[in-house]
Amino acid sequence: MADRVLVVDDEQSLRKVLAATLQREGYEVQVAADGEEALGALDRDGADVVVTDLVMPKMDGLSLLRKVVARHPDVPVIVVTAHGRVDSAVEAMKAGAFDFVTKPFEHTELKAIIAKAARQSDLNARNVVPDEGALRTEIVGKGQQMIELQQIIAKVADAPSTVLIQGESGTGKELVATALHEQSSRRERPFIKINCAAIPRELVEAELFGFEKGAFTGAVQSKPGRFELADGGTLFLDEIGEIPIEMQVKLLRAIQESEFERVGGVKTTRVEVRLIAATSRDLTREIAAGRFREDLFYRLNVVPVILPPLRERREDIPLLVEHFRQKYNARLKKSVEKIEDDALAALASYTWPGNIRELENVLERTILFAEGTNIRAADLPASLRQPRPADDSAPAAPGVPTTPGPLKEIVKEQVQAIERDLIVRGLEVTGNNVTRTAKLLKISRKSLQMKMKEFGLRGED
Ligand SMILES: Nc1ncnc2c1ncn2[C@@H]1O[C@H](COP(=O)(O)OP(=O)(O)OP(=O)(O)O)[C@@H](O)[C@H]1O
Ligand SMILES: [Mg+2]
Repeated sequence: MADRVLVVDDEQSLRKVLAATLQREGYEVQVAADGEEALGALDRDGADVVVTDLVMPKMDGLSLLRKVVARHPDVPVIVVTAHGRVDSAVEAMKAGAFDFVTKPFEHTELKAIIAKAARQSDLNARNVVPDEGALRTEIVGKGQQMIELQQIIAKVADAPSTVLIQGESGTGKELVATALHEQSSRRERPFIKINCAAIPRELVEAELFGFEKGAFTGAVQSKPGRFELADGGTLFLDEIGEIPIEMQVKLLRAIQESEFERVGGVKTTRVEVRLIAATSRDLTREIAAGRFREDLFYRLNVVPVILPPLRERREDIPLLVEHFRQKYNARLKKSVEKIEDDALAALASYTWPGNIRELENVLERTILFAEGTNIRAADLPASLRQPRPADDSAPAAPGVPTTPGPLKEIVKEQVQAIERDLIVRGLEVTGNNVTRTAKLLKISRKSLQMKMKEFGLRGED
């Protein structure tokens, strides 16, 4: 889609010339004669970039700029100042203008600035450039695996090496990629994401490397690809396992040599980009099946990060629950104060095939529908309240043998496995607190202690 530029000037001839020039460049152009008209058009139709004169009747350029910054903070504003009026240019920049040009200006100069602004606008719309002081990505978790993850992130964030993040759906791959970017010295530079699974095969190359005008039907203007947009910053190739095999050689070359050509272009473009890739597929299996190039895999897998499924780090569930309770209380304007132990127990023992995303969704929904200040197990979705399905990560719970055997012994074994399992979950939920676990399991503290001893479990009080 063409980028849309709103041209604001009280002089009709200037508006016309500028509009025609920009239309020839492939922009969609809207015009306004003063600030008031411009603001109306912007509120109504939006725009990707605003170019405005400063001296105008009704609302002048500076007031317009201030209103746009307040009401449409994602839309870059370019200010046109009169020759010799450096003070007004400075004032405009202070008020948040993206850039300024001085009259009389060269069209090439203005075009370059507009192109840059349109790119910025695109990034803003995709919310990829965190402002200074913007919320830092928080990776919640205190278990051993999460501590190690934090250490890896801190260690490699600022290195130029490629990181390959592997993990099931919803385990936090994108979150980790974002954290890597934010903790690097590139944080002020673009963080560009591309989801290889969401792009039709035949468009992957154009998306990655850009294209020249006329490269294919519909290419009415040339466009930079994600590699170019990410120049100096980070490029996140999500679902890299889905990238068509015929694209993999080109990608490998772009990574190895930091250069490529746009589709339909002859000029070689060089970029400096930090690459992070992620996949929920088992790439070794993809390699074996001939769907993923081994050389590309090794090139990407310089720093491997493997995110464990949530069911293998249940110790983090209480912390995550608390994190999402606060998040959705704020976001949904609710005041849930406590997730009761029985609800926590249910949350802690579910298998979470959709991992943290599923946990987050469950909490969002539960908090949204919560009527009081406390959430109990009965408030959770029914699927969570079912008995837990077989779980491969559960501590040694022997399956019921299919061949008949001594009934009493097998039953005893089974009961003990279930007991041990429930106690482990209880201790996890209560942070190893014996008294609270006993309450949760509705047994006496003494008998809990005996059982814990029997099963070799430890807790605190
Ligand atoms: N450790 C964590 N702490 C807090 N929030 C987390 C954590 N891990 C994941 N999340 C949240 O869970 C959700 C899913 O995470 P994310 O999108 O990063 O997962 P993903 O692995 O990319 O998933 P998919 O494979 O489905 O794309 C996000 O809302 C994210 O903020
Ligand atoms: Mg993802």
